[in-house]
Amino acid sequence: RSMPWRKPFLPAPSTSKVSASFRTALAKRAYEVWISEVMLQQTRVATVVDYWTRWMARWPTIQDLAQATEEEVLAQWRGLGYYARARRVWEAARWVCKQDEEGDGEGLMPCDVEGLMRVPGVGRYTAGAIAAIVFGVAAPMVDGNVLRVLSRQLGVLGDVKGDKKVIQLIWDVADQLAKNVAADGGDEEASDRPGRWGQALMELGSTVCTPKPNCAACPITETCRAYAEGLALAEKRPLAG
Ligand code: ADE
Repeated sequence: RSMPWRKPFLPAPSTSKVSASFRTALAKRAYEVWISEVMLQQTRVATVVDYWTRWMARWPTIQDLAQATEEEVLAQWRGLGYYARARRVWEAARWVCKQDEEGDGEGLMPCDVEGLMRVPGVGRYTAGAIAAIVFGVAAPMVDGNVLRVLSRQLGVLGDVKGDKKVIQLIWDVADQLAKNVAADGGDEEASDRPGRWGQALMELGSTVCTPKPNCAACPITETCRAYAEGLALAEKRPLAG
């Protein structure tokens, strides 16, 4: 599905020394994807497209955002709800840019999961999404949709969302899957794979593997434990319902 923050992956130049302008271009992408991911938490894609486009026209870089006032940021967010998200993004932008002034950072969005998670308010989901989508890192991104898809694939039953151990298990599985996807034909050109893979899982969860799933439209029922067991149950009780 086309979304304005989904842009062609920027493959690293073959020279070992990454140029400053390339690093800046990637950092801008990281900022764009970060804002899109924060907006997409709790808000539908169709709504986010409009807000994201206007946001980027007003504050094209993280430096622009850091120079805005809190009131301007909250006003721009109006209508998206959950204003704490806007305030956190603004504070994080100021934090990243301040790292630069203090001389212990580039004033750019970090480019790996560890660095991204040091940014206040950026959790492992957002860090994984940015690292994979923008920087091609084989990092997992588990949101509520991916949690549902993978727990069904594995046949994990019960209160998946409330069980910390199960959530960790799903993150571990997602981590391994991202690594497998990256390694599978893992040449230079394949570094867009972790980002595409993670986003495909999210989209499967938001369109097909929904709380009331449309298994007839699902491309991965063959490996799905919940599907297999659902069929087995249906065979035992053919007239159920
Ligand atoms: N939901 C949140 N982030 C998403 C993304 N990058 N792709 C698809 N669905 C999403």
